[in-house]
Amino acid sequence: MQISVYRDYQTLSFQAADRIIEMVGQKPDAVLCLAAGDTPRLTYDTLAERAASENIDFSQCTFVGLDEWVGIPPENEGSCHYFLQKHLFEPVRISSDQIHLFDALTSDPDDECRKMNQLISTLGGIDLMLVGIGMNGHIGFNEPGASPERYAHVVNLDEATQTVGQKYFRQPTVLRQGITLGLKHLLEARKVILIANGAKKAGVIKQTIEGPITPELPATILRMHRNSEVMLDEEAASG
Ligand code: GLP
Repeated sequence: MQISVYRDYQTLSFQAADRIIEMVGQKPDAVLCLAAGDTPRLTYDTLAERAASENIDFSQCTFVGLDEWVGIPPENEGSCHYFLQKHLFEPVRISSDQIHLFDALTSDPDDECRKMNQLISTLGGIDLMLVGIGMNGHIGFNEPGASPERYAHVVNLDEATQTVGQKYFRQPTVLRQGITLGLKHLLEARKVILIANGAKKAGVIKQTIEGPITPELPATILRMHRNSEVMLDEEAASG
């Protein structure tokens, strides 16, 4: 696992966008899985600016969703769907037929997981995953204890995740379950980048890099990946 530390959030975001652009340059039909959340917000703003100014062609790429809050509709501002649409797909001008996100309103979540697994396998796997890290070390919604053997699945959310997740919503929202790609997807992706910024992530980042590799801290699995990178700003690296 490579570790890269940048002086601030702006520099980190520029470099993360650069990794995405580099991947698409090498493989124009790349399969990309890019997380929602506060952390990658500036990465996507930068990506949109550079896509326009440098004429970067994403038209052959496919985008697959990482995770979603079960039961939260796509028009809700707190959903991953809404976030990605607003901060990534619309500004970068990705057409809807290139985008495959989890349907959080499905009456059959297990079937939704099967369909996502099938799609990713048909596409030949994920080329690049850009993920954030939860305060409890989760990736996507792979909560503490998640099995590294699992592909997409539905999870009961940790209390910490239910509480921290409120920051995405205008009103207090019941967040009981998530639907997520699995750690097996992460292990099989050709490249995985974890980004984190800010002092509040310093503790969990220290554990991820220096603590024991354990399912209790799902992000530590990245240390078993042959092509993973943790990109941090100085505050997140301060532990
Ligand atoms: C959320 C999401 C993750 C996200 C992580 C960090 O709960 N399930 O996909 O990467 O937690 O979020 P943030 O970037 O807002 O800190």
